[in-house]
Amino acid sequence: MNKILLLLIFLLVSVDEARAVSIAAPYEYGKVIIANYSERAGLAPVVFNHWVHRARYTCRLCHVDIGFAMAKGATAITAAANKKGLYCGACHNGKRTYNGKMIFASCSGANPRKNAACERCHALKKSNVQERDFKSFLEKMPRTASGNGIDWEAAESSGRIKPIDVLEGVSIQRPRIIKAQKDFAIESKSTGTAAVVFSHKKHAVWNGCEVCHPDIFPIKKGAAKYTMHELEKGEYCGVCHNKVAFPIHDCKRCHTGVKTKK
Ligand code: HEC
Ligand code: HEC
Ligand code: HEC
Ligand code: HEC
Ligand code: HEC
Ligand code: HEC
Repeated sequence: MNKILLLLIFLLVSVDEARAVSIAAPYEYGKVIIANYSERAGLAPVVFNHWVHRARYTCRLCHVDIGFAMAKGATAITAAANKKGLYCGACHNGKRTYNGKMIFASCSGANPRKNAACERCHALKKSNVQERDFKSFLEKMPRTASGNGIDWEAAESSGRIKPIDVLEGVSIQRPRIIKAQKDFAIESKSTGTAAVVFSHKKHAVWNGCEVCHPDIFPIKKGAAKYTMHELEKGEYCGVCHNKVAFPIHDCKRCHTGVKTKK
């Protein structure tokens, strides 16, 4: 087939993919279905909602200290690991508390058919409890038009939410506090497009330094070369933006700088 035609098809498909993400309901945004082992064990796949968790904990805590991969299905989470206090079991162990209330326990050897508690996580196509909770949470949050419909940045900086960054018995003591870099502009390569202003300070609140460096970005300005195409494919900024942080179609939230002159 003609190479140009192939390229056109590819571009159309990637645009469609971006749209499919953008039309997800606010409640669905950041939802991850974990389905490596459940069905084989006679259980429904697990529904994990980012909104519930990111309102309470930083990305860094889960994706660095606890060790969840930033890719759906990439972590081998087993019932045995959860019972040992790893992964979900780092918090969902029936002992750890949040705001003075015990966090419900994860997998046990109990007969799942006699245990409604299993369905809180093994929840795919089971109940709408999670969705109801979202609606009442949303009412209390600063709003935006995309993603979860929540302006997470404002929610955090105004103190409406205070994500926990250190978990006793899980997080290791960090050697030193590293100061965040100054904000900088990523100049757009095309004329007429406003530059992207990137804030280290705002990102470090959620991600520390370790989520991004060195896996996603080299520690040198301009060293990585990327365009919107890579972002749409889920690389660089697109690792988080489009899946959990606000989506790519919210152009003006990133392109806030001055337009490049001809
Ligand atoms: C309570 C723990 C927890 C917190 C907090 C958390 N995540 Fe996750 N995240 C997970 C789990 C679990 C997965 C699924 C991993 C798997 O399936 O292997 C995941 C998956 C992801 C994925 C991949 C999604 C996909 O569809 O492939 C991205 C991107 C991500 N997280 C970003 C973030 C960002 C950004 C934050 C902070 C705003 C964050 N996470 C906060 C636990 C967490
Ligand atoms: C860092 C601690 C932490 C980790 C890790 C964690 N959770 Fe949670 N989770 C919480 C807290 C706190 C709540 C809210 C309090 C409650 O409902 O008991 C919660 C609530 C939930 C809920 C009910 C709310 C909802 O509608 O989604 C589900 C389901 C859930 N978690 C699933 C998971 C799964 C699956 C994993 C692992 C992939 C996981 N959690 C990992 C702390 C954690
Ligand atoms: C806090 C969330 C949570 C709760 C509650 C929970 N699980 Fe799980 N469980 C998981 C996750 C995440 C996986 C991995 C899912 C996958 O990859 O399919 C899993 C997987 C499993 C597996 C298959 C993997 C293996 O190691 O064989 C079994 C069996 C299991 N759970 C049993 C149970 C039982 C029984 C209950 C109720 C007593 C329960 N779980 C409650 C999170 C939970
Ligand atoms: C959300 C992702 C993200 C987080 C979190 C993050 N950085 Fe960066 N960092 C970047 C990007 C993007 C660049 C520029 C890379 C490029 O241009 O290719 C960068 C560049 C740098 C540079 C090079 C600056 C220069 O002038 O060459 C340093 C140093 C740095 N980061 C340190 C840190 C430290 C320290 C932290 C934690 C406080 C941190 N970063 C957290 C994304 C991040
Ligand atoms: C998460 C932040 C983010 C969002 C949202 C975003 N961009 Fe970008 N954009 C970037 C970054 C980073 C670059 C790379 C800068 C460069 O050109 O070196 C870029 C580059 C561009 C470029 C230059 C050519 C190219 O393809 O790289 C254009 C044009 C552009 N963006 C348009 C858009 C449009 C239109 C939207 C909304 C549909 C959008 N951007 C949304 C971050 C973003
Ligand atoms: C590791 C995950 C991650 C990566 C990678 C990442 N971001 Fe973000 N970003 C976030 C989170 C989390 C927020 C908080 C807002 C939200 O969740 O919607 C955020 C917020 C922002 C904001 C809004 C800050 C404000 O002032 O409101 C901008 C702009 C932004 N990111 C641009 C970028 C650009 C450009 C890149 C790539 C150079 C990038 N981000 C890479 C996670 C990430």
